[in-house]
Amino acid sequence: MSTLLSETSGTKELQQQDNLHQSHAPCEAPPDAPSPDTLSDLEFSRRTFVKTAGILSAGVASGLPRVAAAEKARVAAATAPQTISLALKINGKQHALTVDTRTTLLDALREYLSLTGTKKGCDHGQCGACTVLVDGRRVNSCLTLAAVAQGSEITTIEGLAHGDELHPVQAAFLEHDGFQCGYCTPGQICSAVALLEECRRGDLSQVSFQTGQTTSPQLSDNEIRERMSGNICRCAAYPNIIAAVRAAAQGARS
Ligand code: FES
Ligand code: FES
Repeated sequence: MSTLLSETSGTKELQQQDNLHQSHAPCEAPPDAPSPDTLSDLEFSRRTFVKTAGILSAGVASGLPRVAAAEKARVAAATAPQTISLALKINGKQHALTVDTRTTLLDALREYLSLTGTKKGCDHGQCGACTVLVDGRRVNSCLTLAAVAQGSEITTIEGLAHGDELHPVQAAFLEHDGFQCGYCTPGQICSAVALLEECRRGDLSQVSFQTGQTTSPQLSDNEIRERMSGNICRCAAYPNIIAAVRAAAQGARS
């Protein structure tokens, strides 16, 4: 019995050693390791991926110049100058001209019609040097498209005098020395001409409300300053400009 037991335990020991050897056998792969078949599949997938990516990259690279060319053509078409034929009535005369649709009234006057009395100061609607009259209203011609002025009566500084006879506002500016370098003067004079008409109509200004004169406001110096505030004079000839406008207003009333 003891022999049997020892034999049995010996067999168990041998079996355990055997198992131990088996679990450490160097040539056997662990149970969850990929089989050789799976490895070749992986290899194939990697090659396929690299090949496909290469083809795709080549496709994208060869397509890029065409995309860039199409975009260039689109931008060129969008920014190509579009022209428009206009008939502008300026100082009582009709003028036919063909201009870029984006041309301002100021550029149409100066660059296309050689009416250079209207000045370009800031070209941004801030100085009033480019003031002209459109249907009697003063406008900054640098902010007005020429196409928009079609069908209107446009008056520039060249159109105020009648032959040798100056407009009363021009005469007042001369008499009161309402300028120094003269660059802002055409705009100041056009603005003052419109101002007198606005006063005649009874249009109000900020100063009219401040002083409570909301019916037939008197053209005080403060009113003139406020109403001429869109016209800058870099020479600061303001006292004389105000005197000139005041005199023209008095002349218009008498
Ligand atoms: S040039 Fe037009 S406002 Fe200055
Ligand atoms: S007179 Fe020179 S800017 Fe007015």
